[in-house]
Amino acid sequence: MAWKATDIRGVDVEAQETPALSEQTVSEIRALFDRYPTRQAVLLPALHLAQAQIGYLPPKALLEIAGLLELAPAQVLDVVTFYEMYWRQPKGRKLIQVCRSMSCELCGQVGLLDAIKAKLGIEEGQTTPDGQFTLIAVECLAACDKAPVVLVNETLHEKVAVKDLDEILKPE
Ligand code: FES
Repeated sequence: MAWKATDIRGVDVEAQETPALSEQTVSEIRALFDRYPTRQAVLLPALHLAQAQIGYLPPKALLEIAGLLELAPAQVLDVVTFYEMYWRQPKGRKLIQVCRSMSCELCGQVGLLDAIKAKLGIEEGQTTPDGQFTLIAVECLAACDKAPVVLVNETLHEKVAVKDLDEILKPE
């Protein structure tokens, strides 16, 4: 029996005619082929490019990447589910990552996380209804001497206090 890819709603992903990956993303992925020894080695950057375009990695995008890299869809899914930085569901435009490791915890991370939850009205792992923010707690962000730290998309905020949250959590 052949594999059949369906999304979370049971929709047949392969029957969807509109490609998930833009022509631009496909050409950026193809441009990587000469830089890596195998197509499989292109998988991580290809996933990053797809996620940068779409915001997350829907099943259709995974199938298209598998096709481009001549991999089985299961190989792609294995990688996506192994790493934390790949998202299989939509996330907010701003991803708030609060460090929960020891240095940050000793420097007030718990109160900070509670204040962020209260301010956004969401729990860890949730996204605000307007799609602005997703909140997660993560392990050490390698800035322990600046604890507590909060990473908002690509921007690291250091020695964060509750009073700083209005500025840090400004909607776009
Ligand atoms: S413990 Fe928070 S950055 Fe290392």
